[in-house]
Order: sequence, then C-alpha cells, then structure tokens
Amino acid sequence: MRILSGIKPSGEVHFGNYFGAMRQYVELQGQGDAIYFIADYHSMDGIRDAKQRRELVNDLVLDYLASGLDPARAIVYRQSDLPETCELTWLLTSVTPMGLLQRAHAYKDAVAKGELVDHGLFAYPVLMAADILQFATDIVPVGQDQKQHIEMARDIAVKFNQTYGREVFKLPEARILEEVAVVPGVDGRKMSKSYGNVLRMFWPEKQLRKAIMAIVTDSSPVEASKNTEQALFQLWSLFATKAEREALFARAAAGGLGYGEVKKDLAERALAYFAPLRARREQLARQPGLVEDVLADGVRRARALAAPLFEAAREAAGMGAAR
Ligand code: ADP
Ligand code: TRP
Repeated sequence: MRILSGIKPSGEVHFGNYFGAMRQYVELQGQGDAIYFIADYHSMDGIRDAKQRRELVNDLVLDYLASGLDPARAIVYRQSDLPETCELTWLLTSVTPMGLLQRAHAYKDAVAKGELVDHGLFAYPVLMAADILQFATDIVPVGQDQKQHIEMARDIAVKFNQTYGREVFKLPEARILEEVAVVPGVDGRKMSKSYGNVLRMFWPEKQLRKAIMAIVTDSSPVEASKNTEQALFQLWSLFATKAEREALFARAAAGGLGYGEVKKDLAERALAYFAPLRARREQLARQPGLVEDVLADGVRRARALAAPLFEAAREAAGMGAAR
C-alpha cells in the first residue's frame, strides 16, 4: 500500500494540521510505503521570498519529525527536489478541462473575494494531482478541506488514462478522519492560518495559554446548560478520552460549568500533550545538517518509487524517443 500526503511550508503548524493530518501520517507510517513531502512548489502563490521559503521548509521538516515521523519508516522529501513532478504536471495539464479547475473551492473563493488570481493558484490542483499520481498512491490522509483536490486528482487520472488508452495512473482515495475532519479555530470557524484563528503546538507556553483563554464562547451564565457544539468543547475533546468527554459534556448539559474552568483545563491538557513533541523539536533543531540529510535521503527513495510512473506517462504520451 502507498500512502502519500504533503503540507505547504507556510508557517508553524497548528492543532488543525496536527489532528487533521499529521497524526494520521504518524499512525500510517510503516504500513507500506508512507511518503510525506514539503509542498514548496505549492507555497509559491503565497510566499514570494526565497529566504523565508527555505526557513519555512526547514521548520516544517522539524515539525514533521517532532510530531513523530520517522525517516526510517516514512519517506520525507521536499517537492522541489523532484522537479520531474513539474513535467508530469504539464502532461496532466494538457488533459485537464478548464471547467474542472474553475470549480475548485480555493480558486472560486479567491475570485469571489476579488483577488488577483494568478495561474499558479488556478493550476494548483493539477500539481497536486501529479504529486499523488506519480507514486501510484492508494491513500491520501488529509483534512476535509482537501477532499475536492483528491477527487480532482482522480478525474485527471481517468482523463489521462482514457486519452492515451492505457491504465497509467491508479485512482487514489482520500482518508479523512470524521472526528477531526474540521478542527475549529478560536473563533469557531475552521482553524486555518488564513483566518488568523489558530492555536500553534509549539508556541511558548504563555502565548498558548493566552490564546486558549481567548477562545470565543457564547455569553450564557455559569448556571446555564452549555452548548457543547462550541469550538471550546470540540478543542477540549481533542485531548480527552471518550469517558472524560461524556463526563464533561454531562456537566455542561446540567449547568454550573464555567467556560473559564474548561479553558484552563484545555490549556493544561494541550501543554502536557505537546510537551514531549516540543522537547524533541528543540533537540532536533540543535542538530546541524539533520534536515538536509533527511531530505536528501528522502528524495532518493521518492525518486526510485516515482520513476516507473514518470516513464510510463512519457511513454504513453509519446514524449522523447521511443523505447
Ligand atoms: P491551513 O488551512 O492552515 O493553511 P493547510 O492547508 O496548510 O492549513 O493544511 C495542511 C493539512 O492540514 C491538510 O491536510 C489539511 O486538510 C489539514 N488541516 C488544516 N486545517 C485543518 C483543520 N482545521 N482541521 C482539520 N484538518 C486541517
Ligand atoms: N494542498 C495541500 C494543502 O494545502 C498540500 C498538498 C500538496 C497535498 N500536494 C498534496 C496534500 C498531495 C496531499 C497530497 O494542505
């Protein structure tokens, strides 16, 4: 079984990234070929500074490793170390209907906001299809927001296979964990860097506590029965067992539970949960050359897995001399 996923290097990871995506990565590593990459090509539409991009890539590798990805059991590589993906993107682009890309949420949202959309953002799903299809990926662990992109990768694979009359590409499946498909942010919307509502795993303790205390709740008084659909309870549940959750939710329903108490407890639980990861990250960050060593080994292994697919796609489309 092949497992593949990637994250854009665009800032420190947050609870949504961890519970929605990274924790699944760790769970799945060792079950077949697990491949996790740093999507630096995809970061190009937001980040326009070379130095900043390199720093963000470095940080994300440390985040991956600190979260438990083990280079002995998973391949960790940087997308731009495998530029063959860009060639494959072109082969796929030429069979991708405009209409398909015009339906992409990210593109539609940008247009709706009146942003100046560049071609990179428009073509984003095709590059993502290449990332996935180049490894004959079976499953793609992600959060809910990426579902549409994976469906598009399937559509593009079918289109290529039909166009060239060969089953070059396999159809991938998204793997989305229901209970953490959409982790809410401090304002109740989906936790996302672009909304500025994130809780970051590796923030200094004080900052994390402060952000947790500022989670938005309704204004019902302590005595009132509480609505447990609120972000605070959803976030607290990430760090609780089922039995603990049932007990707290029963107290919330009965009334008499204050939000401040839940927030303080959430801060304790989150800090305790991430403490070992934080310690590991600090220790990894002190090892010079570690990140580049991991990436160099990663791309060597990634290239070996992708090479047959690149060749099959070129061959099917008649690129280069016949073999
Ligand atoms: P952001 O929305 O903060 O920019 P990314 O798009 O970089 O996050 O997401 C990286 C990975 O983390 C993806 O697999 C995505 O589905 C997952 N993810 C991001 N935010 C959340 C969230 N709030 N809940 C669940 N998963 C999430
Ligand atoms: N688009 C993903 C995100 O914003 C990152 C990504 C790029 C990805 N290529 C991928 C995820 C391939 C899964 C598989 O989070």
